[in-house]
Amino acid sequence: MRRAVARFRRADETVALVPTMGALHDGHLELVRLARRTCRRVAVSIFVNPTQFAPSEDLDAYPRTFEADLRALGSLQTDLVWAPAVDVMYPEGFATRVVPEGPALAGLEDASRPHFFAGVATVVTKLLVQCLPDVAVFGEKDYQQLKVVTRMVADLDLPVRIVGAATVREPDGLAMSSRNVYLSAEQRAVAPALHRVLTACAGRIAAGRTIGTVLAEGREAIERTGFRLDYLEARHADTLQPITTATAGPVRLLVAATIGSTRLIDNIAV
Ligand code: PAJ
Repeated sequence: MRRAVARFRRADETVALVPTMGALHDGHLELVRLARRTCRRVAVSIFVNPTQFAPSEDLDAYPRTFEADLRALGSLQTDLVWAPAVDVMYPEGFATRVVPEGPALAGLEDASRPHFFAGVATVVTKLLVQCLPDVAVFGEKDYQQLKVVTRMVADLDLPVRIVGAATVREPDGLAMSSRNVYLSAEQRAVAPALHRVLTACAGRIAAGRTIGTVLAEGREAIERTGFRLDYLEARHADTLQPITTATAGPVRLLVAATIGSTRLIDNIAV
């Protein structure tokens, strides 16, 4: 990876990295397209990172579609694909973790997945140092992750610019996700409720209704659809700290909920 990127650099070409766990869908591919508009060369990493999965989570079952991923990336003229084996990333004796705080302790994804962001921060740091790109692209779909990585790169003086990409959705509003393949037809029909409720709440808050009241109604609306709600929160869009009035800063609404055994997340700006 280093040698290949060094060749680009010697030719004065800029390089963007798009980190992924594979099972690529149009949301990932939009990140690659954005990377291509940002830099001359595009590298994509595909690595299902074991350290960000809890023992109870879906590491073994996580969808792996490597050949199809390569075809999709080929059609977008990706310059490099970096798909290291687990023992290349974490050889025997590996003993270091990057443990982020701030937005990583906001009480959102971290509340139910306490080791998740240390796993993400550790692997993203490794990927950034392996590749040394000018730009790395992350999706707003995983909004807390985007904020954690942005903070971490600033705090550790990593010489890379983090670029966020808007969430790509199905026509009915459901945010594209590798986990959507787990949904039954019935659950898939219910799933757009998350985005529908987020949009309705954002509209009411923008119209001046009290955030607390709007969220209480939103929580009820989500639970009525058959989702088990994990959280529906309004947070400051940059720090992810709780926010009670729309005038206190840019507001981001974030939701996580489970249907059957599939946990989905989404978020939008107010
Ligand atoms: P993964 O879930 O494969 O997502 C890779 C990137 O694609 C992330 O930046 C994610 O936010 C973005 N993405 C996923 N669905 C999207 C959508 N519908 N619209 C826009 N962007 C979308 O996130 C990870 O992998 C991992 O945690 C990783 C950062 C690779 C570290 O292991």
